[in-house]
Amino acid sequence: MEQTFIMIKPDGVQRGLVGEIICRFEKKGFYLKGLKFITVDQSFAEKHYADLSAKPFFAGLVEYIISGPVVAMIWEGKGVVATGRTIIGATNPAASAPGTIRGDFAIDIGRNVIHGSDSVESARKEIALWFPEGPVNWQNSLHPWIYE
Ligand code: GTP
Ligand code: MG
Repeated sequence: MEQTFIMIKPDGVQRGLVGEIICRFEKKGFYLKGLKFITVDQSFAEKHYADLSAKPFFAGLVEYIISGPVVAMIWEGKGVVATGRTIIGATNPAASAPGTIRGDFAIDIGRNVIHGSDSVESARKEIALWFPEGPVNWQNSLHPWIYE
């Protein structure tokens, strides 16, 4: 099934939003397939955000991501890449709908609490970068109660 890479950024960790965010993905019915609590260094953060290296905010973005520990996760489920982005909300919290994570918990674009892969291809690359050991292999026994 489809997988996505979700990361709770350092501000989300500092603000005590880890449980709340995991809760939203769990209750939706997605399956947790990887989880680690780590601090990454500059070269790793630059690799993760390589596509944005030409942007004027790149240096600040990298500094933000390495400023404290993050929660890196693999979530699995039908359409999880797109639905994960819907749960997260628009990049700029000022434009994120209430009910989304950024809409409910963030104000500034440079402190928007959470990252989610923007395509199945990015998810594949990001999971390979953050989880070279691969996902945890398990089956959720509630599967038939979530999928028809
Ligand atoms: P991610 O899930 O974190 O990848 O966010 P996104 O896919 O919604 O946005 P994008 O990949 O375009 O940008 C990555 C991150 O860079 C955003 O989540 C913001 O934290 C930051 N960012 C994007 N645009 C701006 C900007 O104009 N100013 C600042 N300061 N940060 C930005
Ligand atoms: Mg992005």
